[in-house]
Amino acid sequence: MGKMEYRGYDSVGIATINDQKITLKKGIGKVSVVNKKLSLDNLKGDVGIGHTRWATHGSVTSVNAHPHVCAQSEIAVVHNGIIENHLDLKKQLKLKGVIFKSDTDTEVIPNLLSSFINQEAEIKSAVVKTVSKLIGQYSFIAMLRNETLVGVKDHEPLILGIGPTGYFLSSDVLGFAKHVDKVIYLDDGQFIVLNHNGYKIYDFQGNLLNLTPTKLSRKFENIEKGDYDHFTMKEIQEQTSSILESGNEFLDEFATFAEILKNSNRVYITGSGTSYNCGLVGKYLFPKVVGKSIEPIMSSEMKSFEDCFDDKSALIAISQSGESADVLNSVAFAKEKGAKILSIVNTTTSSLVKMSDSFIGLNCGYEVGVAATKSFTSQLIILYRILEKFDPTLNVSHRLDLVSEAIAKILDNKKLILEISQKLKNIENLYILGRGIHYPIAKEGALKIKELSYIHAEGVPTGELKHGPLALIDESTYVILINPTDDSSTHSDNISNASEIKSRGAKIIGISNENNPIYDYWIPLPNISKIFYPIIETIPFQLMAYYLSIERGNDPDYPRNLAKCVTVK
Ligand code: BG6
Repeated sequence: MGKMEYRGYDSVGIATINDQKITLKKGIGKVSVVNKKLSLDNLKGDVGIGHTRWATHGSVTSVNAHPHVCAQSEIAVVHNGIIENHLDLKKQLKLKGVIFKSDTDTEVIPNLLSSFINQEAEIKSAVVKTVSKLIGQYSFIAMLRNETLVGVKDHEPLILGIGPTGYFLSSDVLGFAKHVDKVIYLDDGQFIVLNHNGYKIYDFQGNLLNLTPTKLSRKFENIEKGDYDHFTMKEIQEQTSSILESGNEFLDEFATFAEILKNSNRVYITGSGTSYNCGLVGKYLFPKVVGKSIEPIMSSEMKSFEDCFDDKSALIAISQSGESADVLNSVAFAKEKGAKILSIVNTTTSSLVKMSDSFIGLNCGYEVGVAATKSFTSQLIILYRILEKFDPTLNVSHRLDLVSEAIAKILDNKKLILEISQKLKNIENLYILGRGIHYPIAKEGALKIKELSYIHAEGVPTGELKHGPLALIDESTYVILINPTDDSSTHSDNISNASEIKSRGAKIIGISNENNPIYDYWIPLPNISKIFYPIIETIPFQLMAYYLSIERGNDPDYPRNLAKCVTVK
């Protein structure tokens, strides 16, 4: 369960079958906290289900934690996603005398399934009836008192693991990687009935399917922190090597991407959170190199732009997990209009890959820390390598070692960033400025600091400050200015804006390859070819967010209210 925690960690619960009875334990907090209180690992039985929650319906309470059991204590259910028509179903079930204990949408599932099991001769037809009533994007696992498990997938990931000691069902291979050697990734509209005699997989019409298990890559086995206190710092440090691998197993796909982009009239790029910020960098890079603009659209906003797409357009979809519901839905919109889908993704077994015409894997290894770090720099490298197909003089692939060395230098200097973070630990607002291609990095820096330290940080195009946000600046304010000397006019414009800020009494932290008297603090960047500054200037923000999180007593790996992959709209 601990391995699954990064997908949601506000509450946790486990249910097992012991003596034909369902035994249930659940509570608020992380697995280690609840286990200490309730001894989850003392539960008896060799059939069980468990869940770590990211609340969608119903506040964070132990009653709303999963699993949820039906009124007759016959069936327990864990669920990801949303049952959109749960209020109607609840009303109908209440009329049949069902008493609900929680405020969740999930609790309708065990009660609905139980109502059909009482009517139907076999479990298969009861499940077919149940899914015909459910509306929404979901996956769930139901555990019956006769030690049968039913796993149902409709949009949310669900994987069967087959191992020497038994069968496992999970929404992520990490949940069982150590115990299995073969897997089956269920598809939308499929369900599995699993018991000690084996398993059967059906579609939602009840037709038996014959799916072949595939070997599970061993790379999932040892996802550990090693000597690091947190996955986040481990993954920040791994960037000196992960960037060298970015996209290496997908070299042919770069040409495919370039071909499709060349032949498309309009090109869009989408993503959520950090992945969107990578798309924004694309907006600044593409026109210069490809001679065609690329429009970034936040995935959660895609519905407003669906008419932009047709069979002559292309959409680049960026997602670390490949399972963010907003990204999948935005791709579905564009696909419906005939657009070509090109994905940049870390999890190559994800739903996004299945929806794509072509995809390039990040190759940066598993990312557990909720705040994206190494996946971002690998996403940027892949964007650059796509552009290299249009302009080989960019010479990206043969100079990645220089980027790796520059990142190593910044990481070696992390003590300075710790000291600056200690000065900032009690602030509540922080403004991060950048011009041109550095503005998306200002946004990414602000996102990292928000995600991990809970400080309100805002990325602002430097030139925009005087048109409003400057009103927020006073002698208690800190401003971070991203200002490498990659463009002399941008550089000097930034310095003029810095003096406007300084004259309002604020303190300025300069991130640049060159110091300047206007900076109160200077975070040096190694000199490097100008195209690479957006990549290396991201590192100080990742470190600052990490240190601020620690200094403010937060858990950098599990920041409050967030999850590594949000599979609901
Ligand atoms: C959020 C994560 O849930 O989703 C962020 O906390 C991430 O780190 C964002 O950037 C988008 O996720 P993905 O997997 O689609 O890149």
